[in-house]
Amino acid sequence: MLLGSLVSGVRHALSAVSSDVEAARERDPAARGLTEVLLCYPGLHALWMHRVAHTLYCHGHHLPARLISQASRFATGIEIHPGATIGPGLFIDHGMGVVIGETTEIGDDVTIYQGVTLGGTGKETGKRHPTVGDRVIVGTGARVLGPVEIGEGAKVGAGAIVIRDVPPNSTVVGNPGRTVVLDGQRVPAARPDIEHTRLPDPMAEAMVRLVRRLGELEQEVDDLRAGRTGDGDPDGPPARTHASVQDDIISILGLNAGAGI
Ligand SMILES: CC(C)(COP(=O)(O)OP(=O)(O)OC[C@H]1O[C@@H](n2cnc3c(N)ncnc32)[C@H](O)[C@@H]1OP(=O)(O)O)[C@@H](O)C(=O)NCCC(=O)NCCS
Repeated sequence: MLLGSLVSGVRHALSAVSSDVEAARERDPAARGLTEVLLCYPGLHALWMHRVAHTLYCHGHHLPARLISQASRFATGIEIHPGATIGPGLFIDHGMGVVIGETTEIGDDVTIYQGVTLGGTGKETGKRHPTVGDRVIVGTGARVLGPVEIGEGAKVGAGAIVIRDVPPNSTVVGNPGRTVVLDGQRVPAARPDIEHTRLPDPMAEAMVRLVRRLGELEQEVDDLRAGRTGDGDPDGPPARTHASVQDDIISILGLNAGAGI
Protein backbone atom coordinates (compact mmCIF):
# COMPACT_ATOMS: atom_id res chain seq x y z
CA MET A 1 0.00 0.00 0.00
CA LEU A 2 2.65 2.50 1.09
CA LEU A 3 5.03 1.17 -1.54
CA GLY A 4 2.35 1.48 -4.23
CA SER A 5 1.72 5.11 -3.27
CA LEU A 6 5.44 5.78 -3.26
CA VAL A 7 5.87 4.38 -6.76
CA SER A 8 2.91 6.36 -8.02
CA GLY A 9 4.38 9.54 -6.41
CA VAL A 10 7.77 9.00 -8.05
CA ARG A 11 6.09 8.42 -11.42
CA HIS A 12 4.14 11.65 -10.94
CA ALA A 13 7.35 13.54 -10.10
CA LEU A 14 9.24 12.14 -13.07
CA SER A 15 6.45 12.90 -15.51
CA ALA A 16 6.86 16.64 -14.92
CA VAL A 17 10.67 16.87 -14.86
CA SER A 18 11.07 18.16 -18.41
CA SER A 19 8.46 20.92 -18.00
CA ASP A 20 10.06 21.89 -14.65
CA VAL A 21 13.44 22.23 -16.33
CA GLU A 22 11.86 24.25 -19.12
CA ALA A 23 10.28 26.61 -16.56
CA ALA A 24 13.66 27.18 -14.89
CA ARG A 25 15.41 27.86 -18.20
CA GLU A 26 12.65 30.24 -19.33
CA ARG A 27 12.50 32.26 -16.13
CA ASP A 28 16.08 32.31 -14.86
CA PRO A 29 18.52 34.03 -17.21
CA ALA A 30 21.35 32.43 -15.21
CA ALA A 31 20.20 28.90 -16.11
CA ARG A 32 22.58 27.41 -18.69
CA GLY A 33 22.75 23.71 -19.55
CA LEU A 34 20.32 20.94 -18.74
CA THR A 35 22.77 19.22 -16.38
CA GLU A 36 23.30 22.42 -14.42
CA VAL A 37 19.55 22.92 -14.00
CA LEU A 38 18.99 19.30 -12.98
CA LEU A 39 21.76 19.42 -10.37
CA CYS A 40 21.86 22.97 -9.04
CA TYR A 41 18.25 24.13 -8.62
CA PRO A 42 16.95 23.37 -5.11
CA GLY A 43 13.54 24.71 -6.14
CA LEU A 44 13.23 21.85 -8.59
CA HIS A 45 14.46 19.25 -6.09
CA ALA A 46 11.93 20.50 -3.49
CA LEU A 47 9.16 20.31 -6.08
CA TRP A 48 10.00 16.73 -7.06
CA MET A 49 10.08 15.63 -3.42
CA HIS A 50 6.83 17.48 -2.80
CA ARG A 51 5.11 15.56 -5.60
CA VAL A 52 6.07 12.28 -3.93
CA ALA A 53 5.06 13.57 -0.48
CA HIS A 54 1.76 14.97 -1.80
CA THR A 55 0.82 11.63 -3.39
CA LEU A 56 1.49 9.84 -0.09
CA TYR A 57 -0.49 12.52 1.78
CA CYS A 58 -3.47 12.16 -0.55
CA HIS A 59 -3.39 8.37 0.03
CA GLY A 60 -3.53 8.92 3.80
CA HIS A 61 0.16 8.25 4.58
CA HIS A 62 0.56 11.47 6.51
CA LEU A 63 3.65 10.63 8.56
CA PRO A 64 5.80 9.32 5.68
CA ALA A 65 4.66 12.36 3.69
CA ARG A 66 5.80 14.72 6.47
CA LEU A 67 9.11 12.86 6.74
CA ILE A 68 9.80 13.37 3.04
CA SER A 69 8.80 17.03 3.35
CA GLN A 70 11.21 17.51 6.28
CA ALA A 71 14.04 15.72 4.46
CA SER A 72 13.41 18.03 1.51
CA ARG A 73 13.52 21.05 3.82
CA PHE A 74 16.83 19.85 5.25
CA ALA A 75 18.30 19.41 1.77
CA THR A 76 16.91 22.51 0.04
CA GLY A 77 15.87 25.05 2.71
CA ILE A 78 12.37 25.00 1.21
CA GLU A 79 9.48 23.77 3.36
CA ILE A 80 6.38 22.69 1.47
CA HIS A 81 3.67 20.99 3.50
CA PRO A 82 2.67 17.75 1.76
CA GLY A 83 -0.97 18.87 1.78
CA ALA A 84 -0.27 21.89 -0.46
CA THR A 85 -1.73 21.65 -3.98
CA ILE A 86 0.68 22.84 -6.65
CA GLY A 87 -0.07 23.20 -10.35
CA PRO A 88 2.37 22.58 -13.20
CA GLY A 89 5.11 25.05 -14.05
CA LEU A 90 5.92 26.30 -10.53
CA PHE A 91 9.43 27.74 -10.43
CA ILE A 92 10.98 28.43 -7.01
CA ASP A 93 14.14 30.45 -7.69
CA HIS A 94 16.96 30.17 -5.10
CA GLY A 95 14.36 28.94 -2.67
CA MET A 96 16.06 29.21 0.71
CA GLY A 97 13.53 30.13 3.39
CA VAL A 98 10.40 29.49 1.32
CA VAL A 99 7.48 28.16 3.40
CA ILE A 100 4.27 26.90 1.78
CA GLY A 101 1.46 25.93 4.15
CA GLU A 102 -0.82 22.92 4.17
CA THR A 103 -3.94 24.37 2.54
CA THR A 104 -2.12 26.52 -0.01
CA GLU A 105 -3.29 26.16 -3.62
CA ILE A 106 -0.94 27.25 -6.37
CA GLY A 107 -2.06 27.56 -10.00
CA ASP A 108 -0.06 27.05 -13.19
CA ASP A 109 3.26 28.71 -14.09
CA VAL A 110 3.74 30.53 -10.79
CA THR A 111 7.15 31.98 -9.85
CA ILE A 112 8.29 32.27 -6.25
CA TYR A 113 11.58 33.72 -4.98
CA GLN A 114 13.56 33.00 -1.85
CA GLY A 115 12.17 33.87 1.57
CA VAL A 116 8.51 33.81 0.53
CA THR A 117 5.90 32.64 3.03
CA LEU A 118 2.50 31.44 1.89
CA GLY A 119 1.23 30.95 5.40
CA GLY A 120 -1.66 31.18 7.83
CA THR A 121 -2.29 33.98 10.30
CA GLY A 122 -2.30 31.54 13.19
CA LYS A 123 -6.00 32.03 13.95
CA GLU A 124 -7.91 29.97 11.43
CA THR A 125 -8.55 26.28 11.02
CA GLY A 126 -9.55 24.54 7.79
CA LYS A 127 -8.62 26.50 4.64
CA ARG A 128 -6.18 29.00 6.11
CA HIS A 129 -3.48 29.52 3.50
CA PRO A 130 -3.44 31.50 0.25
CA THR A 131 -4.80 30.56 -3.15
CA VAL A 132 -2.38 31.74 -5.80
CA GLY A 133 -3.66 32.16 -9.36
CA ASP A 134 -1.96 31.21 -12.63
CA ARG A 135 1.18 33.12 -13.69
CA VAL A 136 1.53 34.97 -10.37
CA ILE A 137 5.02 36.18 -9.36
CA VAL A 138 5.78 36.43 -5.64
CA GLY A 139 8.89 38.55 -5.00
CA THR A 140 11.64 37.73 -2.56
CA GLY A 141 10.75 37.95 1.12
CA ALA A 142 7.04 38.54 0.49
CA ARG A 143 4.55 37.14 2.99
CA VAL A 144 1.07 36.23 1.92
CA LEU A 145 -0.95 35.35 4.98
CA GLY A 146 -4.36 33.80 5.48
CA PRO A 147 -6.90 32.34 3.02
CA VAL A 148 -6.48 35.26 0.60
CA GLU A 149 -6.72 34.99 -3.18
CA ILE A 150 -3.97 36.28 -5.41
CA GLY A 151 -5.61 36.87 -8.78
CA GLU A 152 -4.03 35.43 -11.90
CA GLY A 153 -1.20 37.37 -13.45
CA ALA A 154 -0.64 39.43 -10.28
CA LYS A 155 2.80 40.46 -9.03
CA VAL A 156 3.54 40.59 -5.32
CA GLY A 157 6.51 42.92 -4.81
CA ALA A 158 9.60 41.89 -2.88
CA GLY A 159 9.05 42.33 0.85
CA ALA A 160 5.29 42.90 0.62
CA ILE A 161 2.98 41.65 3.35
CA VAL A 162 -0.36 40.68 1.87
CA ILE A 163 -3.35 39.97 4.08
CA ARG A 164 -6.17 40.84 1.66
CA ASP A 165 -7.21 39.53 -1.74
CA VAL A 166 -5.17 40.80 -4.67
CA PRO A 167 -7.00 41.55 -7.96
CA PRO A 168 -5.89 39.77 -11.14
CA ASN A 169 -3.22 41.50 -13.28
CA SER A 170 -2.20 43.88 -10.51
CA THR A 171 1.00 44.71 -8.65
CA VAL A 172 0.95 44.85 -4.87
CA VAL A 173 3.80 46.29 -2.79
CA GLY A 174 4.54 47.33 0.79
CA ASN A 175 3.21 46.57 4.23
CA PRO A 176 0.30 46.22 4.30
CA GLY A 177 0.27 45.31 0.61
CA ARG A 178 -1.41 47.96 -1.55
CA THR A 179 -2.20 47.87 -5.25
CA VAL A 180 0.08 50.19 -7.23
CA VAL A 181 -0.61 48.88 -10.73
CA LEU A 182 -3.89 47.45 -12.05
CA ASP A 183 -4.28 46.18 -15.62
CA GLY A 184 -1.11 48.03 -16.60
CA GLN A 185 -2.26 51.40 -15.18
CA ARG A 186 -0.65 53.11 -12.19
CA VAL A 187 -3.06 53.36 -9.24
CA PRO A 188 -2.63 56.79 -7.64
CA ALA A 189 -1.74 56.74 -3.94
CA ALA A 190 -4.35 58.07 -1.53
CA ARG A 191 -4.05 61.89 -1.46
CA PRO A 192 -2.05 63.09 1.56
CA ASP A 193 -3.81 65.56 3.83
CA ILE A 194 -1.81 68.74 3.32
CA GLU A 195 -4.33 71.13 4.92
CA HIS A 196 -1.81 72.19 7.60
CA THR A 197 -3.76 75.33 8.46
CA ARG A 198 -6.71 73.21 9.61
CA LEU A 199 -4.88 71.03 12.13
CA PRO A 200 -6.92 70.32 15.27
CA ASP A 201 -5.94 72.48 18.23
CA PRO A 202 -6.88 70.90 21.58
CA MET A 203 -5.74 73.93 23.62
CA ALA A 204 -7.94 76.32 21.66
CA GLU A 205 -10.88 73.93 21.94
CA ALA A 206 -10.43 73.76 25.72
CA MET A 207 -10.33 77.58 25.93
CA VAL A 208 -13.52 77.87 23.86
CA ARG A 209 -15.30 75.47 26.20
CA LEU A 210 -14.10 77.41 29.27
CA VAL A 211 -15.21 80.77 27.85
CA ARG A 212 -18.62 79.32 26.99
CA ARG A 213 -19.01 77.82 30.46
CA LEU A 214 -18.02 81.14 32.06
CA GLY A 215 -20.68 82.88 30.03
CA GLU A 216 -23.32 80.38 31.17
CA LEU A 217 -22.34 80.86 34.82
CA GLU A 218 -22.43 84.66 34.50
CA GLN A 219 -25.88 84.39 32.99
CA GLU A 220 -27.05 82.24 35.89
CA VAL A 221 -25.63 84.69 38.46
CA ASP A 222 -27.37 87.57 36.71
CA ASP A 223 -30.63 85.63 36.68
CA LEU A 224 -30.33 84.83 40.39
CA ARG A 225 -29.49 88.44 41.28
CA ALA A 226 -32.47 89.68 39.34
CA GLY A 227 -34.72 87.04 40.93
CA ARG A 228 -35.65 85.69 37.52
CA THR A 229 -36.80 82.08 37.17
CA GLY A 230 -35.36 81.56 33.72
CA ASP A 231 -36.31 81.95 30.11
CA GLY A 232 -39.23 84.04 29.10
CA ASP A 233 -39.02 86.77 31.83
CA PRO A 234 -40.15 89.90 30.02
CA ASP A 235 -38.16 92.14 32.40
CA GLY A 236 -34.82 90.28 32.04
CA PRO A 237 -31.94 91.20 29.77
CA PRO A 238 -31.95 89.70 26.27
CA ALA A 239 -31.14 85.96 26.57
CA ARG A 240 -28.14 86.22 24.13
CA THR A 241 -26.22 88.95 25.98
CA HIS A 242 -23.57 86.72 27.55
CA ALA A 243 -23.46 84.35 24.63
CA SER A 244 -22.68 87.27 22.37
CA VAL A 245 -19.86 88.35 24.68
CA GLN A 246 -18.40 84.82 24.61
CA ASP A 247 -18.44 84.80 20.82
CA ASP A 248 -16.68 88.15 20.80
CA ILE A 249 -13.95 86.86 23.15
CA ILE A 250 -13.45 83.69 21.08
CA SER A 251 -13.26 85.69 17.91
CA ILE A 252 -10.88 88.35 19.33
CA LEU A 253 -8.51 85.64 20.68
CA GLY A 254 -8.63 83.86 17.35
CA LEU A 255 -9.49 80.53 18.99
CA ASN A 256 -11.55 79.20 16.14
CA ALA A 257 -10.23 76.28 14.03
CA GLY A 258 -6.92 76.02 15.78
CA ALA A 259 -5.80 79.50 14.73
CA GLY A 260 -4.68 80.31 18.27
CA ILE A 261 -1.66 77.99 18.36
C1 LIG B 1 6.79 44.64 -7.84
C2 LIG B 1 7.68 44.32 -9.03
C3 LIG B 1 7.30 42.96 -9.57
C4 LIG B 1 7.52 45.38 -10.13
O1 LIG B 1 6.18 45.35 -10.66
P1 LIG B 1 5.66 46.41 -11.72
O2 LIG B 1 4.21 46.13 -11.98
O3 LIG B 1 6.57 46.44 -12.90
O4 LIG B 1 5.72 47.77 -10.91
P2 LIG B 1 6.70 49.04 -11.09
O5 LIG B 1 8.12 48.61 -11.21
O6 LIG B 1 6.12 49.88 -12.20
O7 LIG B 1 6.51 49.77 -9.70
C5 LIG B 1 5.29 50.39 -9.33
C6 LIG B 1 5.53 51.18 -8.05
O8 LIG B 1 5.82 50.28 -6.97
C7 LIG B 1 7.10 50.55 -6.39
N1 LIG B 1 7.70 49.27 -6.06
C8 LIG B 1 8.10 48.30 -6.93
N2 LIG B 1 8.55 47.24 -6.26
C9 LIG B 1 8.43 47.51 -4.95
C10 LIG B 1 8.73 46.80 -3.77
N3 LIG B 1 9.20 45.55 -3.80
N4 LIG B 1 8.45 47.37 -2.55
C11 LIG B 1 7.94 48.64 -2.51
N5 LIG B 1 7.64 49.38 -3.61
C12 LIG B 1 7.89 48.82 -4.81
C13 LIG B 1 7.87 51.31 -7.46
O9 LIG B 1 8.85 52.14 -6.90
C14 LIG B 1 6.76 52.11 -8.11
O10 LIG B 1 6.44 53.21 -7.27
P3 LIG B 1 6.12 54.66 -7.91
O11 LIG B 1 4.84 54.47 -8.69
O12 LIG B 1 5.97 55.54 -6.71
O13 LIG B 1 7.28 54.98 -8.79
C15 LIG B 1 9.17 44.32 -8.64
O14 LIG B 1 9.55 45.60 -8.19
C16 LIG B 1 9.51 43.29 -7.58
O15 LIG B 1 9.45 43.55 -6.37
N6 LIG B 1 9.89 42.08 -8.09
C17 LIG B 1 10.36 41.00 -7.26
C18 LIG B 1 11.67 40.54 -7.85
C19 LIG B 1 12.43 39.64 -6.93
O16 LIG B 1 11.98 39.23 -5.89
N7 LIG B 1 13.63 39.31 -7.36
C20 LIG B 1 14.50 38.43 -6.63
C21 LIG B 1 15.61 38.01 -7.54
S1 LIG B 1 16.75 37.05 -6.67
